[in-house]
Amino acid sequence: MGTSGSLMFLLLLMPVKVQESSDFHLAGDYLLGGLFTLHANVKGTTHLNYMQVPQCKDYEVKVLGYNLMQAMRFAVEEINNDSRLLPGLLLGYEMVDVCYVTNNIQPILYFLAKEDFNLPIQQDYSSYVPRVVAVIGPDTSESVVTVSNLLSLFLLPQISYSAISNELQDTSRYPALFRTIPRGDHQVEAMVQLLVHFSWNWVIIIMSSDDYGRENGQLLNEKLAGHEICIAFQESLPVPLGNRTIMPQEKKKLEIIVEKIRNSTAKVVVVLSLDLALFDFFQEVIHQNFTGTVWIASESWSIDPVIHSISDIQQAGTFLGVTNQIVPIPGFSDFRVRQTDIKKSMMNSSEPTCNQECETCLETTKSYSTILTLSGERVVYNVYSAVYAVAHALHHLLGCNDTSCSKDVVYPWKLLQEIRKVNFTLLGHRMFFDKNGDPPMDLDIVQWQWGEDQNPFRSVAFYNSTLGKLQNITTINWNTPNNMTPSSVCSKNCQKGQYKKPVGLHICCFECINCSPGTYLNQTADDSVCQPCPQFEWSKEGEVQCFKRRLQFLEWREPSTIIVVILAFLGLLSTLAILIIFWIHFQTPMVRSAGGRMCFLMLTPLLVAYASVPVYIGRPTVFTCLCRQTLFTLCFTVCIACITVRSFQIVCIFKMASRLPRAYSYWVKYNGPYVFVVLITLLKVVIVMANILVTPTNLTIRYDPDDARIMILNCNTNYRKALLLNTSLDLVLSVFGFSFSYMGKELPTNYNEAKFITLSMTFYFISSVFLCTFMSIYQGVLVTIFDVAVTVINLLGISMGYFGPKCYMILFYPERNTMAYFNSVIQGYTMRKD
Ligand SMILES: *[C@@H]1O[C@H](CO)[C@@H](O)[C@H](O)[C@H]1NC(C)=O
Ligand SMILES: *[C@@H]1O[C@H](CO)[C@@H](O)[C@H](O)[C@H]1NC(C)=O
Ligand SMILES: *[C@@H]1O[C@H](CO)[C@@H](O)[C@H](O)[C@H]1NC(C)=O
Ligand SMILES: *[C@@H]1O[C@H](CO)[C@@H](O)[C@H](O)[C@H]1NC(C)=O
Ligand SMILES: *[C@@H]1O[C@H](CO)[C@@H](O)[C@H](O)[C@H]1NC(C)=O
Ligand SMILES: *[C@@H]1O[C@H](CO)[C@@H](O)[C@H](O)[C@H]1NC(C)=O
Repeated sequence: MGTSGSLMFLLLLMPVKVQESSDFHLAGDYLLGGLFTLHANVKGTTHLNYMQVPQCKDYEVKVLGYNLMQAMRFAVEEINNDSRLLPGLLLGYEMVDVCYVTNNIQPILYFLAKEDFNLPIQQDYSSYVPRVVAVIGPDTSESVVTVSNLLSLFLLPQISYSAISNELQDTSRYPALFRTIPRGDHQVEAMVQLLVHFSWNWVIIIMSSDDYGRENGQLLNEKLAGHEICIAFQESLPVPLGNRTIMPQEKKKLEIIVEKIRNSTAKVVVVLSLDLALFDFFQEVIHQNFTGTVWIASESWSIDPVIHSISDIQQAGTFLGVTNQIVPIPGFSDFRVRQTDIKKSMMNSSEPTCNQECETCLETTKSYSTILTLSGERVVYNVYSAVYAVAHALHHLLGCNDTSCSKDVVYPWKLLQEIRKVNFTLLGHRMFFDKNGDPPMDLDIVQWQWGEDQNPFRSVAFYNSTLGKLQNITTINWNTPNNMTPSSVCSKNCQKGQYKKPVGLHICCFECINCSPGTYLNQTADDSVCQPCPQFEWSKEGEVQCFKRRLQFLEWREPSTIIVVILAFLGLLSTLAILIIFWIHFQTPMVRSAGGRMCFLMLTPLLVAYASVPVYIGRPTVFTCLCRQTLFTLCFTVCIACITVRSFQIVCIFKMASRLPRAYSYWVKYNGPYVFVVLITLLKVVIVMANILVTPTNLTIRYDPDDARIMILNCNTNYRKALLLNTSLDLVLSVFGFSFSYMGKELPTNYNEAKFITLSMTFYFISSVFLCTFMSIYQGVLVTIFDVAVTVINLLGISMGYFGPKCYMILFYPERNTMAYFNSVIQGYTMRKD
């Protein structure tokens, strides 16, 4: 009985004057309840102090609310005029101003009560007939929840025209609730697709600090996360108290928020708020001279003519909004501002009412008439179709035929079942409710414009809620120089070959860093790491692909190669010439003093060595590598060995003969020089073979540390070590050769090859040391060319230095190439020595 008592108490507070003719009331066979916000206010404490119905009329008129109420009146009148729908029946209504969320309990109690303002407590309400058969509204989700909780006890059908909250689709909690606006999901999805379409990934979210702001803010947050769009920051706007009064500390907060938006790099602001909080906000925005910002409006204010008319608001940037699709309703524009025939005397406000009055509504709406007419019917259609849905359901329930309907008692739960089943076409649009009580409605993206005779809310895109896709996006007039699409990104996209290094927690904020050499960026795979190049490939810093390393080797066309080859060829020719000359003059003392047959032992390897210079050139193969490591060095060793033994003979043979006669006789008997050369050669062969066995010749690839693009084919990984080993024996020999010939530098001029041997041995020694040093510092082709050049010069040194002077003598001083001359010279030498 407690409940009953309080219900009765409230109802007693509310003796509603029933006026014969009013905007808010129309008598009829069946009444519809209408809940609209005609005055903007939020729950305050004032009215609770007096325990009375809040005086909404003290607050400012909400033009859109009145517009919607007119839509309901228009629809009812049209249905009453229509002879096909509900023929012979008069539909009436009872409408109340709910003042946002302030005044929604009282009207519901009023709607539920019977004619005598009595709401009885019953076991079973299935045969209870309340004052109204259905309720249209209210507007905000918050009120809808309150209202619906009461109405669903009675299964009284309720159709909301602008509550978008996703929660409302829960039919188990709100069994009697329908709505004619797509749910919040769709609005948020449309917004997200808009952001995606313009590549804005750095946005600010401003929401009102109420259920609407919180719920849609959360929804947007969730959706954005799936699209790699980052939120620069989000703020809640203080919702002002009644009559838009704002407290000083809230004003301060507003200033701080607006300044924060102004200073942010994000240029797209999504504003999810009921209109009430936005007047002060946009005043502040205009005060702070915003330009170029893109404002994305939620459906709650996207077609609000009052905010649209704030002076100078067009300078704040581009306004885009999500709203209902436009459905022109013929005749509504005139109806909206039609003066109703109200007797002023009947509208006496001295008595408490349930807010069924609005003296200034019509006048205020008239002042916005042009803009409302130009905007066309969007949410208005939601109200209009809601009324039609009830009418169609009633039509079915009452079993109407073309001329009349039965005037049966209408139980709310029966009407509810009929409403679930409605399916009709209204102004070319299909109207029905899905299993969640949602309509088949699509959304529009509108752009605000301020030109004369223009639709202030021009459609620029269409959101198909069945497909969940933004379609038909037309050009938008940005308030920017050259009409450039504003950009709102945390970090500009990286250039090619740069990877994204995250800065902070946002994925949209990053530094662009060039990929380091040897790595590349595959944008299709992952743009936050550079992949290493495959083997044998390379990239420079900041590349998007790797390229093949160039295999570098000594090429024929290089000038240095050509010079070396020419030198080698000349060497070959001259050596051949020397060979021929020596052959012809084989018996002359000059040739015999040069070593006789041993000369040929030296010249032949020289020829081979010259001829094999090309193995250094071109792409190395296992064969050429083997040649380099064996043939070349062997030839050289034979030569050096011959020279050494020759020097030894020149300088020491006399001393050996006198001091060690036995050794001398063995030396002569066993052909000492040849044995020596063969032994040295064998030793060299062993070294070379060992070398090859220890470090098998296989081509290895190395990368030039100085130039990463280059790949060097090496004969051997231990190329330098191998060279040193190969050279060491030659070096030792050359040291001996040098020493012997140095001792013999006093010898007569016909034996003066000692000087040349000294020279060439010195050169060989120096160049070998230099070569080894050079190789330990440099790598690559330069080493090869240096190697071959040094070798050729050494060969030339031997053939020119050793044989050259002798040939010169043979050819140009044949008189000195006689036994007699030789003897005289030796005699002279011996005498000088004594
Ligand atoms: C209904 O009919 C009356 C009388 O014919 C007319 O004046 C009025 O404009 C009509 N209303 C609508 C909404 O069609
Ligand atoms: C906005 O601009 C006006 C005039 O151009 C200037 O007086 C005012 O101080 C500016 N306001 C801000 C917040 O910069
Ligand atoms: C309306 O109120 C005025 C005073 O506010 C009073 O003089 C008048 O009689 C009232 N009219 C009706 C019809 O109640
Ligand atoms: C319509 O129904 C009424 C009774 O409900 C009946 O009298 C009338 O003949 C019907 N009219 C038509 C055209 O069927
Ligand atoms: C509504 O009716 C149309 C045609 O009568 C039909 O194609 C459509 O499937 C119906 N829709 C629903 C939801 O029942
Ligand atoms: C980049 O990555 C994609 C996917 O992993 C792969 O299909 C493509 O071949 C890669 N491109 C390059 C140049 O590596």
